[in-house]
Amino acid sequence: MTNIKSDYLVVGSGLAGLSLALKASNNGSVSLITKKKMFDSATGKAQGGIACVSEKSDSFEAHIRDTIVSGAGLCDEQMVERMVFEAPERIKELISLGVNFSKKDCSDAKFELALEGGHSKRRILHAGDITGNEIEHVLIGNIRKHKNIVVYENHIAVDLILDDGKMCRGAYVFDSENNNVEVFEAKVTALACGGAGRAYLYTSNPDIATGDAVAMAYRIGADIENMEFVQFHPTCLYNRETVSFLISEAIRGEGGILKLKNGETFMDKYSPLKELAARDIVARAINNELKVRKENFVYLDITARSRDFLTKRFPNIYLECLKCGIDISKDMIPVIPAAHFFCGGIAIDENGRTSIKNLYALGETACSGVHGANRLASNSMLECIVYAERVYKDSLQFLGKEYSRVDFKFTRNIITSKRDIFMSGWEEVRQLTWSHLGISRSNEKLLEAKRRIGVLKSEIEQYFEEDCFAVNEVELRNVVFISEMIVSSAINRKESRGAHFNTDYPFMLPEAKNTIININTK
Ligand code: SIN
Repeated sequence: MTNIKSDYLVVGSGLAGLSLALKASNNGSVSLITKKKMFDSATGKAQGGIACVSEKSDSFEAHIRDTIVSGAGLCDEQMVERMVFEAPERIKELISLGVNFSKKDCSDAKFELALEGGHSKRRILHAGDITGNEIEHVLIGNIRKHKNIVVYENHIAVDLILDDGKMCRGAYVFDSENNNVEVFEAKVTALACGGAGRAYLYTSNPDIATGDAVAMAYRIGADIENMEFVQFHPTCLYNRETVSFLISEAIRGEGGILKLKNGETFMDKYSPLKELAARDIVARAINNELKVRKENFVYLDITARSRDFLTKRFPNIYLECLKCGIDISKDMIPVIPAAHFFCGGIAIDENGRTSIKNLYALGETACSGVHGANRLASNSMLECIVYAERVYKDSLQFLGKEYSRVDFKFTRNIITSKRDIFMSGWEEVRQLTWSHLGISRSNEKLLEAKRRIGVLKSEIEQYFEEDCFAVNEVELRNVVFISEMIVSSAINRKESRGAHFNTDYPFMLPEAKNTIININTK
């Protein structure tokens, strides 16, 4: 087994991983691993933008308040305050790296600010409707210039390595091009693998979102927090033929109205903020209407805006819809909610430290307390850059130390043939999460899901122990672990709050508590 040593091992190449790698390269050597190509990340697909107070008519207090209201009582207020106050500094850094946010017409100085659900002001910096694409390209360009960063594409982390002192010392990593397993040894390991939308049948996420970091951290005993809060984006394009394509919330910010098939509006029944209510409210409202009417989709109507405006502000959405025969300046867009963002993840402190020594987590992979039970739109990329800075500063202390030798043990074989259990497992787990762990849950559904996930997990673990895997199998194993964590956390929560709704406990309890799970204490 090859042993690749560096000061930092950064796992994941979205905004969190790339930002940290760039900063960490000032401290020491960095191995950046990513399971496909560098660009294949959830960031690359992000449409909306980054929330940041940048005009006098807005205030930090308002951004903090909106975040906390959206989080339904579970935000860590101190963490929210720090994130909001640090935002302008971190945005300046992105701009200095070369990121171009859209500016107002005829103005070089003023950003064009977008509005999304739950925000009381326009405060979202964006690059048209391909903000993530712009950021990802700029950061990758910068990463490639750094001698201190070695990028390993097509490398998927399989399991983390703990030494005798229960300190994380790196990861076993599968190189899928050469079909071998390598040891990546590091003084500091940072997990930034994004979320796990692919655990669900319908998701806005790219295929890589399989919760690898959370599953690996869970297996070595890290605390995992609030996994029941899976946020469903209200408006993904309804088109069962293709991967779910997101119709940005910014469309509703520009006047998009939700309508039933018969043309009636309905959001006024659910919130005075109507289409711009927090995401959990809008997703549940759509879900409810679909159930009552036994329909498959609702419409999003932005035809009140001109073709000129739409092609300029939303060029990508305009084109993608056109490919499906929908001219959004004339036709209403059929939409459904789909799994979008994990508000929970690996529990971290204010510096990004997990409960395992020398192991950090950041971005969607982590649960930092800034999102609570329901993330405010466009706060997620902000969280990535804020925590990259924190991890960078905090991790300095681990670099100068000497560490004991580790005995590396990785004995499984690599089998690249596709086996039935893994093919049918994907179908089974994604159907089950969609029907039993979706927008509306019940005690009966949760218990049934727990039983079926338990059976699937023991079968997969047995195969995985006997011999080994291809990438698809590593991912399915992780998705099954993630589903188990969602169900355990959802069963623990005897109330409805934010993105978690249980018909048997439809109300919120007076006291807001986080759900922590740990493999050693379950
Ligand atoms: C969107 O553009 O609607 C997604 C933005 C986000 O999830 O923050």
